[in-house]
Amino acid sequence: MFEPLFIIDLTITLLTLVTALMAGRRAGRLARATDDGAAQATRRLRRALYGTVALTALRLVVAGLLLTGGWNLASNRLVVVLPPAVLGLAWAVTAERRNARHGTVGLAPAVHTGVAGVLLSAYWLLVPSGPGDTPASVLISVAVLAAVAAGSTVLARLRAARTGYGAVHAPWLALGLVLALGSVSFLGYQGSLSRPAGHQAGPMDWGGGAVPAQNSAADAHQGHGAQHTGHDSSGGSAGTRDVEDLTGPRARTPDVRYTLTAAHRTVKLASGTTVDALTFNGTSPGPELRVRQGELLEVTLVNKDVKEGVTVHWHGVDVPNAEDGVPGVTQDAVVPGGRHVYRFVPDRAGTFWYHTHRDAAQTVKRGLFGALVVEPPADATPAGSASSGQQPYERVVFTHLWPGKGTQDLVPAFDAADTVRSTSVAPGRPVRLRLINSSDEPQRILLGGAPFTVVAIDGNALNRPAALKARTDLLLPAGGRLDVAFTMGREDFSLRLDGAETPNRAGLALNPGPSKAPAELSRGTLFDPLAYGEPTSGQPAGTDRADRRFEMVFDNGFGFFDGGFTFANTINGRLYPNVPTLMVTEGDTVRMRITNRSIMDHPVHLHGHRVRVLSRNGDAVTGSPWYTDTLNVAPGEVFEIVFSADNPGIWMDHCHNQEHAAAGMVMHLAYTGITSDLHGNGHSPE
Ligand code: C2O
Ligand code: CU
Repeated sequence: MFEPLFIIDLTITLLTLVTALMAGRRAGRLARATDDGAAQATRRLRRALYGTVALTALRLVVAGLLLTGGWNLASNRLVVVLPPAVLGLAWAVTAERRNARHGTVGLAPAVHTGVAGVLLSAYWLLVPSGPGDTPASVLISVAVLAAVAAGSTVLARLRAARTGYGAVHAPWLALGLVLALGSVSFLGYQGSLSRPAGHQAGPMDWGGGAVPAQNSAADAHQGHGAQHTGHDSSGGSAGTRDVEDLTGPRARTPDVRYTLTAAHRTVKLASGTTVDALTFNGTSPGPELRVRQGELLEVTLVNKDVKEGVTVHWHGVDVPNAEDGVPGVTQDAVVPGGRHVYRFVPDRAGTFWYHTHRDAAQTVKRGLFGALVVEPPADATPAGSASSGQQPYERVVFTHLWPGKGTQDLVPAFDAADTVRSTSVAPGRPVRLRLINSSDEPQRILLGGAPFTVVAIDGNALNRPAALKARTDLLLPAGGRLDVAFTMGREDFSLRLDGAETPNRAGLALNPGPSKAPAELSRGTLFDPLAYGEPTSGQPAGTDRADRRFEMVFDNGFGFFDGGFTFANTINGRLYPNVPTLMVTEGDTVRMRITNRSIMDHPVHLHGHRVRVLSRNGDAVTGSPWYTDTLNVAPGEVFEIVFSADNPGIWMDHCHNQEHAAAGMVMHLAYTGITSDLHGNGHSPE
C-alpha cells in the first residue's frame, strides 16, 4: 500500500528539481531584464515558482499519507527531507508577493534560497541517512541555506552595480560549489564512519574480527522507557571467548551422519532447460537431511571443485556460533579438495534448510541448497497421525528461481520442476507440505482443492491454527518456510506458483485418484499470520520489557560500497561494512523496530536466533505467537520484534535477498566478550 507513495514521491521530487532550477534561472533573468521585459520575466518566474510550490505541497500530502503507517515511515521526510524546501520556498513566495518588481535586491536571493532548499530536499531523499544522522543533516541544511542566502544577497548587490558576467552567474556557481562540497563531505562522512582501519573486506567477506563495533545508531531510541539492566559488559567470569571455540559437542558419538559433497554439474530442469549448476551430492535441491530433535547431527562437507569455496549455513537452526557456516566470521570457506565437519544438536523440530554462504548470490541460485527436516523426539506423538492411524504423506517443496539462458532470466520452479507434476495420495491420508523459498524474491503460492492449515512458520509450530478456506494464497519470504497440513480428500489438491507478474508454469497436484495436472488457479486472499491461531496463556504479547532497543531502517539511495559509488538498499543509511554492529550481552531481551522506507521487499534474517513478531504498522499480533527467522518487510512496513540474546557469538543479520546482501545489506549482531580472529590471521579464503 505504501510502495506507490514512495515511487510518487521520488517522481515528484525529480519534477520539482526541474521547476526549481527554472525558477532560479528566471529570477536571475528578471534581475537583468529591461523595463520592457520585466512584466514577461515576472510572469515566467511566477509560473516556475508556484509550480515548484504546488509540487512541494504534493510531497507534503504524500508525507501525510505515509504518516498513517506510523511516525517512523514519515519521520525522515518530515524532519530532514522536506523542511529545507518548505522554508526556502516560503521565503521565496513571501518575497515574490511583497515585491515582484525587478531590480529589487531581495527577490533573487529569496528565490535562490528556495531553489537551494528544493535541491537539498532532493539530496536528503536520494542519499539515505540513518536515525542517528538527523542532527547532522539538519545542521547541514541550515548551513547550506544560510550560505546560499548570504552569498546570493552579496552577489545581487554586486550585480546591481553591474560588475559583469562573473557577478551575474556567480550565485549559481556559488550554489553549485556549496552543494558539491556538502555532498562530498557528507558522503565521505557516511562512508568512513566506523570503517575499521586497515580492513579490506570485499562484499563476500563478512570479516567478523573487523566488524565495526558499537550500537550508536541503534541505541538512538534508548529513551523510550528502555531500561538498561546494567549487565557487566566486561565479559563476566567467562572472559573473552573466540568464535571458533563455540562449537557443538565434539566428544560424543553422533546419532546421525551425512556427507555433503559440493560439485559442479549440469542440472536438467523438468522442461529440459539445462543449468550450469552447483550441486550437493550430484543433485539440486541437495539431499533432504533428517534428524530428530535432541540428536547429535554430524555433517561432513566436502568441496570437490567449487572454486568460489563452500560453507554450509543451517538456515533457521540456532546452532552454536562456530557451526553457523559464515565464511570470514565462523570458519574459512572450504576450498576445492578441502572438507569441514559440522556438529550440532537441533533443539526444535521443524522445517529448516541449508545453503552455502560463500558468494551466496550466485552459488545458492545455481543450486547449493537443500532441506533439513528436524523431527520431533521419538517419544512424542506426531500430530495428526493419532486420529487416522495413517503415516502422513510428507513432502518438501522448494520455490526456486533458476538461472535461465539470458543473464537476467530466471526460471521459476518447484524444486527443479519448471513444469507441472502430479502424484497420487490416498484419500484420508494426512498430508504435510514443507514449503521453502530458496529464491531471492517473495513467492506467492496459490493453493486450491481443499481447506488447509498453516501449522508452522519457519519451523515454529503455531498455537491452535484454524483451517483456512481453499483458495487462500501463501506468501513465502525469501529464505522463509511454511508448513501446510490437511487430510487428503476426494478432490485434487493443487499448488501453483503465482504467475501474475512473471508468467510461469510450475505446478504440483496431489491426486486421490488418477494423476491429473494441477488446476489453473488465480489469486485468492492472502494468508496473514498477524491474527492467525490463538495466543498462548502466560505470554502477554506486547511485553514492554527490553534491555536493548535497536532501530533498523531500510532505504534506497546513493552511497559508497566496495570502493564504488552505487544506488543501493541501505540499513540505517549505511552499507556493509559501515553498518554499526548491534552489541548485546548474553541474557538481554532485545527489542528491534524495523522500518522499510525503500521500494523493495527486504526479508530480514538474523542468524542464530528466532525472533518474535510483536506488531506490524502498529497492529499487535493477536493470534498465535509468531516466531520467525526470516521476516519479509515489504515497502512501507514497520515491524516491532523481540528476541532473547541466548546464543553467544558473532552473527550475521542480513537481507535474504542475496543480491541485496551482496550489495551491502549486511550487518552483525555481536555479544560482548566474543571475538573472531579468522579474518586477518592469514587463513582468509581469498
Ligand atoms: Cu539463509 Cu545468512 O542466510
Ligand atoms: Cu533486501
